[in-house]
Amino acid sequence: MEVVIVPDAAAGGELIAEAIGALLSRRPDALLGVATGSTPLPVYRALAAKVRSGAVDASRARVCQLDEYVGLPPGHPESYRSVVLREVVEPLGLSEASFMGPDGSAEDVQAACEAYDRALAEAGGVDLQLLGIGTDGHIGFNEPCSSLASRTRIKTLTERTRIDNARFFDDDIDQVPHHVITQGIGTILESRHPILLATGEGKAEAVAQTVEGPVASIVPASALQLHPHATVVVDEAAASKLKLADYFRATYAAKPAWQGL
Ligand code: F6R
Repeated sequence: MEVVIVPDAAAGGELIAEAIGALLSRRPDALLGVATGSTPLPVYRALAAKVRSGAVDASRARVCQLDEYVGLPPGHPESYRSVVLREVVEPLGLSEASFMGPDGSAEDVQAACEAYDRALAEAGGVDLQLLGIGTDGHIGFNEPCSSLASRTRIKTLTERTRIDNARFFDDDIDQVPHHVITQGIGTILESRHPILLATGEGKAEAVAQTVEGPVASIVPASALQLHPHATVVVDEAAASKLKLADYFRATYAAKPAWQGL
């Protein structure tokens, strides 16, 4: 697992947008897995700026969702489908045809989950999966004690996550759905390059446990230790509880530029 410590969220966004740009120049139709929430927004903004300036050609990129609320009406502004269309697909100038996600309003949720896993595999698998992390260590919406081999399925959000996400629902926890569809940890680990971005002091404990703790389902993000090419990008605040921070800094400073992330 590579850990890159950047000064702030904007620098993290720029670094990951560069990595996505490099991927798209190697593989123009790369399948990009995207997270929602606040953390990845600087990545999407930096990438959209590169597309606008002509530095990156994303015209053939494909985008797929990581997770989705269950039970929000289609078109709800906080459904993750709406968020990804608004924050990623439209700013990159892509059409809805280049976008895929699980159906959070399906009557048969389990069938929708299985169909989504199949669709990801049929699309050739996710080339780069951007992840955020919950204060409780979740990735996607794999809450603590999720199976590390899990596939896309329905999960119940913890009270902690519903409180954290109430800010997207008028600060009213009652509006935050209890259930979600999320790519499983096993599904996420099949992506060719997972990149986790964490910013702010509130994520420092979860980051330290993810990177330096044991692989354990109580901290779902720790499963990334099992991936041969996982990258964790953290700002100084989110890195503040890492014991090996100096080592990670020195390693990245000495890394040949051609290697990229
Ligand atoms: C959402 C997702 C979640 C978030 C996490 C952090 O698609 O995958 O794991 O990344 O809850 O959310 P923020 O970035 O809002 O702190």
